[in-house]
Amino acid sequence: MALSSLRKLVTDYLAIDMGTANTIIAVKGRDVVLDEPSLVAVSEVNDEIVAFGLEAADMRGREGRDIIVVAPLSAGVVADFEKTKEMLSHFVRKAKSGGSQVTREAVLSVLSEVTHVEQRALLNAAEEAGIGKVSIMEEGLAAAFGADVDPTDKRASAVVDIGAATTNIAVITKGSISHSRSERIGSDEINDAITTHIKRNLGLQIGTETAEAIKRNFMTSVVPDDMAAEMLVKGRDLQSGSPNAVTITAGEVYPIVENIVRRIAQVIKDTLTELRPEVAADIYDRGIVLTGGGALLNGIDQYIREFIDLSVIVPEEPRYCTVRGLLKMFDEPDLLERVSRNEPSILQNSEVPFEA
Ligand SMILES: Nc1ncnc2c1ncn2[C@@H]1O[C@H](COP(=O)(O)OP(=O)(O)OP(=O)(O)O)[C@@H](O)[C@H]1O
Ligand SMILES: [Mg+2]
Repeated sequence: MALSSLRKLVTDYLAIDMGTANTIIAVKGRDVVLDEPSLVAVSEVNDEIVAFGLEAADMRGREGRDIIVVAPLSAGVVADFEKTKEMLSHFVRKAKSGGSQVTREAVLSVLSEVTHVEQRALLNAAEEAGIGKVSIMEEGLAAAFGADVDPTDKRASAVVDIGAATTNIAVITKGSISHSRSERIGSDEINDAITTHIKRNLGLQIGTETAEAIKRNFMTSVVPDDMAAEMLVKGRDLQSGSPNAVTITAGEVYPIVENIVRRIAQVIKDTLTELRPEVAADIYDRGIVLTGGGALLNGIDQYIREFIDLSVIVPEEPRYCTVRGLLKMFDEPDLLERVSRNEPSILQNSEVPFEA
């Protein structure tokens, strides 16, 4: 057997979507193998990581003494380089298919707005995490390929990724981004708003998990059929400090969601006014595709459809579009070469940040 094909046999091809909220890894031939919160639990005594991902998330809000749970990525950028590297290396080890001789090649996504310095930091993190060869590609493009946008199509497609902290709009023509915009507003804003509302108006402090459960199970972006529908919410009484519970109604939480979803819809609408006429014509015909976890909010597609007056499609498993788009790159090496952002000219002059 030729050496090159032997090498292929023992290479794991990893697609890594490292988001603010979640890290998702897919392996060629095995689809998604890891989907965990981008969190680490850190000992305050020696600053060492004691748990990663799901395990760290389970500790959040119920941390023991001297342990804090932190998110090393904030708003899609590397906020804590060392912790990001350790987290990535842990997830990569967890995702590998076994065998000690396995080499790894990876494609990683970043937002278009990420600076060269931040990009360099991510590349370093990946390299130091033991990945042999790393390519970096824009998130919007990956999401589009994952949502089945054809890289040879000369007509434009618009993909809007609503993540935890950012909304990223990308218009793709012939496999390249012709227009993009990223705003620091994401689905987590809803969690913050409901937490604040319950604290201010009902005197109850709630945890992250509770806020997430309210959003997923009780909140909607379309006017609720039954405004009087109730949900019991538990937490800590602000005044007395005692465990307590309060009741919220659909009518009272609807304006909170609507306020944030409207702002997201407005960003989309504004971006669509910046297109060239032919591109605008294509989008008029095709509408937009919503990806990311934010696309799973009840009724958000309907709300945006009415707001922008264009068709809105949510593909199956919108959270996995980016990672699946990255995975496709291993079958299209020429395309990867063209779209990856590791050109030396970009990275040459960027300094390595966060060095001690
Ligand atoms: N079923 C659901 N209903 C409503 N919201 C959901 C649901 N599932 C996930 N979300 C929300 O989606 C967001 C996470 O989305 P995603 O995993 O795409 O983010 P990310 O890629 O980590 O973030 P970013 O792209 O901003 O870095 C969170 O705000 C989460 O609350
Ligand atoms: Mg994302």
